[in-house]
Amino acid sequence: MMAVHNRENDETRADLRYGSEIDLFSTASLMDPYADYAALQAIGPLAYMSRYGTWVATRYDAVRLILTDADTFRSGHGIGMNDTLTTAWMDFAPSRDGEDHAPLRLVMMQSVGPKAATAAQPEIERAAAALVDEVVSRLEFDAVTELAQMLPILSIVELLGFPADIETRRNLLHWATDAYNCCGPDGSFAATLPSMQKLYGFVVENMSRHKMRPGSVGALTFEAVDRGTITEEQAVGIMGGYATAGLDTTASGIGGWLMLLAQNPDQWEVLRDDPALIPSAFQEAVRMESPAQWFTRVTSREVAFEDVVIPAGTRIMHSYGAANRDGGKYLDPARYDIRRNPTDHLGFGIGVHTCMGKWLSNIEAHALMRAFVSRVDRIELTGPPVRHLNNLIRSLEHLPMRVHLR
Ligand code: HEM
Repeated sequence: MMAVHNRENDETRADLRYGSEIDLFSTASLMDPYADYAALQAIGPLAYMSRYGTWVATRYDAVRLILTDADTFRSGHGIGMNDTLTTAWMDFAPSRDGEDHAPLRLVMMQSVGPKAATAAQPEIERAAAALVDEVVSRLEFDAVTELAQMLPILSIVELLGFPADIETRRNLLHWATDAYNCCGPDGSFAATLPSMQKLYGFVVENMSRHKMRPGSVGALTFEAVDRGTITEEQAVGIMGGYATAGLDTTASGIGGWLMLLAQNPDQWEVLRDDPALIPSAFQEAVRMESPAQWFTRVTSREVAFEDVVIPAGTRIMHSYGAANRDGGKYLDPARYDIRRNPTDHLGFGIGVHTCMGKWLSNIEAHALMRAFVSRVDRIELTGPPVRHLNNLIRSLEHLPMRVHLR
């Protein structure tokens, strides 16, 4: 395995011109990273976060380049910022390259890709309509815990097909969120490490072949073992990946979307009166409040970003969240404009590791919003949105909301 450059090596190479004291993992930056993103973008295609000895790409073009050249920017050394996470995620699809990755991708495409997601749509629509009906009839509610988190908890876990009562499902969401927190730099995630162990324990005990409902995503995944495409362990890993990647990301995407609509009543009114704009409005929400803010890659060869020359074996953090707010790419990037339809945003990634669940999460979000606009005339916040602090996921803890029904 190629050596990944450590902090000392990188520091000696870092051109002072690109160095920055900005700490994207400080509490202030995690709460509101956009001024820091703009400052890093002003430095160059890459900047050097001296506190962590890590290069970071924040401009749209640089992030897109990293994601679309998987031969140069490898995932196989892990995609987080520390060895604990790298080791724990080693067998998951996001941490694999080339031939080690392709069979997993094929199986995931069959079980949650566009065809499978379309087949699941009627059931997701039904779950979304029932959920929205029940919640909005109470007029005041927490739009994060009662709507945004509930839909993936109800529909995705059902789809995956392993047994889990509602409390277990909530635990899974919580553990998945904490697993993302563990992607951060050393010293920034100790409190949430036990959740990753609990998630792992649950996956090993409950996501085995004989526990999957016939016809479910889980059953399909284990059929790929019978065909010889993947191993039994890889099937368990894929299911664990779905449970991690499929819950909190979508919940965060929907929660952020509801917040943006509540904060921009003019945009809400346009959407309410023209629900055909729902897909564009959701893309714009994922651009603005990208649930996955960053991951990392490691260079397989020396590579130049303008005049910054990065040696082989260097870990580079790439920020989807920053790229999606790059003023060089999007006009007035902090404005929520539901007609923008930014289909080229990087919130679901791009290239060989593009999100496998983007079809499912779009179906979920659209279904929820279709049900919501059909019942609701006006929305208002009854208190400030409460942010959840996480090293990787941008999300809300609470969104107190009042609705006026049609
Ligand atoms: C709004 C919701 C979601 C967002 C914003 C999101 C974001 C992302 C991003 C940025 C990546 C790329 C990682 C990389 O570049 O290394 C990714 C990969 C992935 N996502 Fe999602 N995701 C969402 C929902 C889901 C759902 C619902 C599932 C599963 C049911 C899922 C499963 C996966 C998997 C398996 C990968 C790894 C793909 C690979 O490495 O080949 N995601 N996601």
